Amino acid sequence: MIDAFRVSLSAPDDFEGWRDAARGLAEAGVPPSAIVWEVEGEDGDLFGQGAPPPPPARAALAAGSFAVPRDFISLAKAAICHRDPERFALLYAMLLKLRANRRAMEDRADPLLDRLEGMAKEVRRDAHKMHAFVRFREVEDGDGTRFVAWFEPDNHIVRREAGFFVRRFTTMRWSILTPELSIHWDGETLREGPGATRAEAPAGDPVEETWKTYYASIFNPARVKVKAMLKEMPKKYWANMPETALVAPLLAGARAREIEMIERSQSMPSRVPTPDFVPMAGGGGNLAASWAALKTEALGCTRCDLHCHATQTVFGEGPLDARILFVGEQPGDQEDLAGRPFVGPAGEVFNAALAEAGIARETTYVTNAVKHFKFVLRGKRRIHQSPGADEIEACRWWVDRERGLIVPALTVALGGTAARSLFGKAVTIGKLRGEAQRLPDGSEAWVTVHPSFLLRLPDEAARKAERVKFVDDLKRIRDWAEALAA
Ligand code: URA
Repeated sequence: MIDAFRVSLSAPDDFEGWRDAARGLAEAGVPPSAIVWEVEGEDGDLFGQGAPPPPPARAALAAGSFAVPRDFISLAKAAICHRDPERFALLYAMLLKLRANRRAMEDRADPLLDRLEGMAKEVRRDAHKMHAFVRFREVEDGDGTRFVAWFEPDNHIVRREAGFFVRRFTTMRWSILTPELSIHWDGETLREGPGATRAEAPAGDPVEETWKTYYASIFNPARVKVKAMLKEMPKKYWANMPETALVAPLLAGARAREIEMIERSQSMPSRVPTPDFVPMAGGGGNLAASWAALKTEALGCTRCDLHCHATQTVFGEGPLDARILFVGEQPGDQEDLAGRPFVGPAGEVFNAALAEAGIARETTYVTNAVKHFKFVLRGKRRIHQSPGADEIEACRWWVDRERGLIVPALTVALGGTAARSLFGKAVTIGKLRGEAQRLPDGSEAWVTVHPSFLLRLPDEAARKAERVKFVDDLKRIRDWAEALAA
């Protein structure tokens, strides 16, 4: 008979506690059914005198360790914040699967993996809502001005997202109160406090003007989708948000502003190539401000763990009235250092092919499906790693917004990662290549290979043949975009 173990975690999002216990238990081959997971202070002492013992120290367990894929760590760090009480046990069951089969994360049909990914997705969505819907009220405390916000997350995300607010509002003194936990920033240190109630949060107007200006500047009249807006901005949060008062007038003026934007971009002088690709606001002030705000926000992106190791976010660049928007995979080593897409070896192949196809790169907008460089260190070299499905999914948020602002006639996926991001699912390049495709949002797209595919072909003849096909694709893309624009 197998002994039962009780693991007591220090907090509902205690990833380190879970990881340390889980590793030891997995090494000892303890089955999920023999472990009771609990969070200190939750539901009192469930077991009283008859409590099963805590897991033995790792030293006392079987020797040897095992490594898990990075995708799992990223999944576990998100899923552990989910409100589902079974999350610890489910993650442990997944860990055992990975111990038996290191490629278990690739089994897309596995219901356990599916459930955990669903949980991680909900957590990320909740985090996004927190980023978007926290609204501060200005109050005076003993030390001066403090900005205080009330927020009700669905999951245990407050600690996980604290860094976002520290980076975004570094110079302010602020507090975010939630039912489970409060966090306080004084400009230097982040402090945690107990949960609060809505009544403890200051009443009155949020810092209205600042938010209204921000909101009006990021509002893109060409992309108004009321249903989607309601879905993204649930009514639950409306009471906190001054800009909801702006929605009706902005919507009413949307069509007029859209026409004004179109007219203004048509009366612009023809585009002048910008040798260093300084992002150009072809569409005018509002669009430029929106793009700049989006880029600034992306520079602080923590939607997945890739930001922890990359040098910086590499955002898209190019004229904002570009007809063609190219989406690559992710920045490489050189792009990561330069902060610009396609400036390394793949960029050279891409530029040359574009020129041969008669497309001036300066007239196109070029971005990546994933905005941070993913790599493993080998000695001093940073070796490219393909982004995982969860990283592509997390970064899709930015690509969608870039496309929403630019509204290109044609979006081009360069390779499988870009296609996955645009179609929202894995697709086969060979099946879609060669003809226009429709994206889930109804817009037009083309799919072709990634320029680095050509670099990787060992055989000279195959490389030449594939390059001809790639340039042919680009020519058809050029003609199609011209036809659409006309
Ligand atoms: N590969 C890409 O997909 N994007 C870059 O920016 C560079 C290399």
